[in-house]
Amino acid sequence: MAIERTLSIIKPDGVAKNIIGEVYSRFEKAGLKIIAAKMLHLTREQAEGFYAVHKERPFFKDLVDFMISGPVIVQVLEGENAIQQNRDLMGATDPKKATAGTIRADFAQTVDENVVHGSDSAENAKIEIAYFFTENEICKRTR
Ligand code: PPS
Repeated sequence: MAIERTLSIIKPDGVAKNIIGEVYSRFEKAGLKIIAAKMLHLTREQAEGFYAVHKERPFFKDLVDFMISGPVIVQVLEGENAIQQNRDLMGATDPKKATAGTIRADFAQTVDENVVHGSDSAENAKIEIAYFFTENEICKRTR
C-alpha cells in the first residue's frame, strides 16, 4: 500500500460538539498520523474557494454559511491508503446511510452538518492540502 496524505476538516458542528479529541483518537487508532493541524474560522471567501467545485449546486450557499458558522480544525493525515482510510472512518456523506461505528453515524444527523470532511481522491488531496498549508507547515514524522 502507498503512503498517502489527505486533507481532513472537523467542521463547525464537530468543534461545537466538543469531539475533536474523539475524532483525532479515531485517526490515531487507525494508524493515521497527524502531520499538520490548525484551527481556523473560515472567511466566506475561503469557504467559497474551498468548495468552488460545488458552486452550481443548490446547497452551495447553505454549505458555505454552515462552514463559516464557527471554527473548524483542518489537518493533514498521513498513512497507508490514507485517503480511503479516512473516508472509511468518516462514513457516508449522509449520516443516515453511514455504516455503524463511523464518525458520521456516531455523531452527525444530517447531510448538511456531517462533522467531518475528507479528500476524495489523490488529486483533490493535493489541491486541498495546498489550500490550507504551505510545505513548511507540514511536518515530517519519522517516528
Ligand atoms: S460528495 O461525496 O462530495 O459527492 O458529496 P455531495 O453529496 O456531493 O456533497 C458535497 C458536500 O456538500 C455537503 N452537502 C450539503 N451541504 C448543505 N446542504 C445540503 N443539502 C448538502 N448536501 C451535501 C456535503 O456535506 C459535502 O461536504 P464535504 O465537506 O465535501 O463532505
